[in-house]
Amino acid sequence: MLPFREEYGGRVKIIIHPLVQEILTVLRNKDTPPEVFRTKLSEIGTYLGYEVLRTFDVEEVLIETPLSKAKGVKIKDLDRVVIVNVLRAAIPLVEGLLKVFPKARIGIVSARRVEKGIAAPDYVFDIEMNYIKLPNDLNDTVTIVADPMFATGCTMLRVLEEVYKRGKPRRCILITVISTRLAIERVLSKYPVEVFTAAIDEKLDERGYIVPGLGDAGDRALGVS
Ligand code: URA
Repeated sequence: MLPFREEYGGRVKIIIHPLVQEILTVLRNKDTPPEVFRTKLSEIGTYLGYEVLRTFDVEEVLIETPLSKAKGVKIKDLDRVVIVNVLRAAIPLVEGLLKVFPKARIGIVSARRVEKGIAAPDYVFDIEMNYIKLPNDLNDTVTIVADPMFATGCTMLRVLEEVYKRGKPRRCILITVISTRLAIERVLSKYPVEVFTAAIDEKLDERGYIVPGLGDAGDRALGVS
């Protein structure tokens, strides 16, 4: 059995591993305190990253043990990885991802929805980006954009505009905890990206929050509310 369920022609992978699903359950629970929420967001980052790593090519290498020669593997392209940290909620997620991509370069962008109360039914937000610091040349990189809540796709579209201004990554992978079909379809129709997520929730509330979701991921991770 595959460790993930594939949708959208394989461009979206939903990680169904019980460990990931159990962590997601803790994250969804409104009674989970910020310090646990933060730790679990970091843990799920590690496990989602581990599944992304499964899709990297490997090459065979020959090494010597103290006793004889042995065949082994080396994962390719680890030195091409750039992780884009979408402030604020991705901070713990990126911390977890770095356990599997320790050599990654890190870009940071701040993104804030300009809230307008009722966002339904079109769910289009202006995105305020006050801080953008990405590597200048993203050509041929494996760029991973980390943002836990992939709700309407507006933030992601704005972040990807900045990414693709800097070149064409060899692969561009979005790592999210909860996604909606609206966000997935908006972004897949515009950019050649792949999505790794722990869940697809079917609904948004009228303000554009994912239902059942987990609430405001940034507030919950940072203990601000
Ligand atoms: N951002 C969040 O933190 N939660 C949502 O449900 C949607 C966007």
